[in-house]
Amino acid sequence: MNFNKFLKKKLEDIRKSNLYRTRLILPDGITDFSSNDYLALKDNPETKKQLCLNIKKISLGSGASPLISGYTDIQKQLEEELSQFKESEKCLVVGSGYLANTGLIQAITSPEDIIFSDQLNHASIIDGIRLSRAKKVIYRHNDLNDLENKLKKEHTTGFRFIITDGVFSMEGDIVSFDKLKTIADRYRAVIIIDDAHATGILGEGKGTIFHFGFKPDENIIQIGTLSKAVGSYGAFICGSRVLIDYLINRMRTQIFSTALSPVQNFISLLNLKTLQREPFRRTKVLKLSEYLYKQAKKEKIYLNFYGTPILTLIVGEEKKALYIRDQLLKKKLFVQAIRPPTVPEGKSRLRITISYKHSENDINLLVKSLKEILENYHG
Ligand SMILES: Cc1ncc(COP(=O)(O)O)c(C=O)c1O
Repeated sequence: MNFNKFLKKKLEDIRKSNLYRTRLILPDGITDFSSNDYLALKDNPETKKQLCLNIKKISLGSGASPLISGYTDIQKQLEEELSQFKESEKCLVVGSGYLANTGLIQAITSPEDIIFSDQLNHASIIDGIRLSRAKKVIYRHNDLNDLENKLKKEHTTGFRFIITDGVFSMEGDIVSFDKLKTIADRYRAVIIIDDAHATGILGEGKGTIFHFGFKPDENIIQIGTLSKAVGSYGAFICGSRVLIDYLINRMRTQIFSTALSPVQNFISLLNLKTLQREPFRRTKVLKLSEYLYKQAKKEKIYLNFYGTPILTLIVGEEKKALYIRDQLLKKKLFVQAIRPPTVPEGKSRLRITISYKHSENDINLLVKSLKEILENYHG
């Protein structure tokens, strides 16, 4: 069989399992309930205005990796702003959340270390662990008894790392950080927390650890993306000065990849300032998220809601999730169907995200539409 025939056959199998994916350009006039642009900053008019005013002075590309000649004053300013925001000693801005996780985990772990990773961590964490030569131990989702039992059993001469999402991207729930921190301290483990979905939302926008009343210490490494609530692109790692200096020297996804464009960093910096100046964006999003949960419940639609802007309707079958998505789209509402391997088998779902740009009317329409579609679905 030639290679293209082989791929075609694989695609046919994917399609038969209702797992085929295509990219969709959302037409105008659709209300998007799937974006991670929680604070509606990707179209921030003030940042657009400043970008137009300053564009002549800003290079369009960085031209090289940060260690060659791609490091710029604007990236330095962004790192300083993030460091202050996250109350950490130092910050490193990198190309994306995916590159942050894969690069960090590979860079700081050795074969004698053990990584304890939540079962539902993001794919970029999983891939980072695959690149690492440390031993991997998976614990049940947010089950800290299971984590502790596993920590107790696993002995090592190296370091222990506990890696978790702050807000789980496909569930919307929040790691029990207070308990996790107690356990981590008991076993002298370093925590890596991926705050891709908590940054800008939880803990006055500063992230999960602040949400639980903690401050950064030398055994906490905070990761975040600039692509979600910040409405831009890129990511960052915040930690001790020595950690960041080590990553500058050893993190392959930072060394062997071109630095972000200064244009992108300019956008991130301005949006980050807006995010801090305008806390009402965050409060409105959280209020609307709760409103959706309550309105849906009144109609006997039981969404999973954990005090974040990510709500889910778990329907199980891929076919049903796709049906609901397609029917909603006909009503000019977009909610993406999330299927395996993004979520476990049998757990296909509608993942609804709330944004600052939504209104109660948008949510009422979503609930009404969901109700009609669910009533008319007969398998
Ligand atoms: C928890 C988590 N970590 C990392 C990423 C990757 O971030 P990025 O899109 O910036 O690569 C995502 C989302 O895509 C995510 O949900």
